Amino acid sequence: AFVVTDNCILCKYTDCVAVCPADAFYEGPNFLVISPDDCIDCDLCPVECPAGAIYQEDEVPADQQEFIELNAELAKHWPRITEVKPPLEQAEKWDGVADKIQYLET
Ligand code: SF4
Ligand code: F3S
Repeated sequence: AFVVTDNCILCKYTDCVAVCPADAFYEGPNFLVISPDDCIDCDLCPVECPAGAIYQEDEVPADQQEFIELNAELAKHWPRITEVKPPLEQAEKWDGVADKIQYLET
């Protein structure tokens, strides 16, 4: 499955949901996740993310491994999102800032 990682946090551009044929995205307050149960590995979403936050599971950077479990777990609790919406207000400011996981709201 594909995995949303740190740089989505506080940006949440949502361009990814527009292309997903499996409706695999779930939305929290300042982050999206992909459900590994829904994702069909079509590889359409990574290039759509302006923040470059989406990786194939086997290619998640070493320092972001915890996001694999985090996507699976949070997808069980958050509502599905299928429509693009405006990014978070401070998205541009936060894009590229490291270690935003400390700000993750669940
Ligand atoms: Fe959806 Fe395809 Fe991305 Fe999986 S890889 S989340 S199916 S767009
Ligand atoms: Fe997040 Fe990128 Fe989607 S910032 S909401 S994974 S387009």
